[in-house]
Amino acid sequence: PDRITVSELANRMAERTSNVVRLLARLGVPSAAVDEIDQDTAELVLTEFGHNIVRVSDSDVEIGMVGGVDVDDHLAERPPVVTIMGHVDHGKTSLLDALRGTNVVKGEAGGITQHIGAYQILTKDKHKITFLDTPGHEAFTAMRARGASVTDIVVLVVAWDDGIMPQTIEAIQHTKAAGVPMIVAINKMDKAGANAEKIRQALLQYDVQVESMGGEVQDVEVSATAKTGLDQLIDKIMLQSEILELKANPDRPAEGNVIEARLDKGKGPLATVLVRRGTLKTGDIFVMGSEWGKVRAMVDDKGASVKSALPSTPVEVLGLTGVPSAGDPVTVVESEARAREVAEYRAGVINAKRIEQEPANLETMFSVLR
Ligand code: GTP
Ligand code: MG
Repeated sequence: PDRITVSELANRMAERTSNVVRLLARLGVPSAAVDEIDQDTAELVLTEFGHNIVRVSDSDVEIGMVGGVDVDDHLAERPPVVTIMGHVDHGKTSLLDALRGTNVVKGEAGGITQHIGAYQILTKDKHKITFLDTPGHEAFTAMRARGASVTDIVVLVVAWDDGIMPQTIEAIQHTKAAGVPMIVAINKMDKAGANAEKIRQALLQYDVQVESMGGEVQDVEVSATAKTGLDQLIDKIMLQSEILELKANPDRPAEGNVIEARLDKGKGPLATVLVRRGTLKTGDIFVMGSEWGKVRAMVDDKGASVKSALPSTPVEVLGLTGVPSAGDPVTVVESEARAREVAEYRAGVINAKRIEQEPANLETMFSVLR
């Protein structure tokens, strides 16, 4: 059939009917659960909910992903996406540097992380781990919310000498809200008088029980500067990752999220994209939020030019028509016409939201678009 009821569509996406109804109202197609909508409208709804559309025949719309689980046949293991969170100056970037064997902190303005860096490391036993670094500064709540929602595992960095601080608590809340497992890294253990036990105790107040306290949260004592505890941290990440059985289908058009985006004077609009399923390739036509484009070139986290990016890989993408917003969903589509259509439709939704004077922040974006 080339028409589908709103409730049936919601069912097939494993989404709440009320969310679909609300989206349709924003689209300017007010509909009730029992109403039928046409295929074009259904496809727009599917795209908005982050589903890739595969048209088997002109009237058959297949849904690849149900409730965040890739139901495809060709599932392959993918690296875990790990977000490093914690209070300002607790050592997130230093820890990531130590894990990567580089030195980013010294290159940052005033040593404060201004954006989400995305990096991939290769462990000693040749496993890849993708890390996202988030800023601890209080102005960056939305970035932490975003980090928590695109991630498989959160590493919460707590400097033992400073203890549980406001952005530590906020990171715990974002992590819990996103339903993501957490590993606590008690940092700065090289400092004289180091006392990790007091952190384990203090975490109880925020409903975080580490294993030695009878809970299930893994913890590890580390020093980013003395480079101790790093192997244990990696082991715990890999252990957690195995439990999660992370898989995605690499053999399909890519889907992902914008991690950060900016306008480069020479190169034009650039977006760092985290591929979540499928493979992103040069030449692909895509929509990112209400922007679209064609992948002209891609650069990996080491600055090397790449032709394709597999699931869980962060890449910088060139070839956008404008600068998308962080958190925006990325969808590869079959034609420029379709890309334009989806982008224009989304621009309409976004404008409608502005008119309603909703704050255009990431958390509301996510609740509408995911
Ligand atoms: P924001 O990005 O601003 O939120 O900070 P951050 O959490 O990334 O902290 P960063 O890595 O920039 O480290 C802050 C300060 O703590 C720097 O001066 C680091 O050298 C220091 N530091 C980080 N880890 C350790 C550690 O294990 N031991 C000691 N002694 N100092 C550390
Ligand atoms: Mg930092």
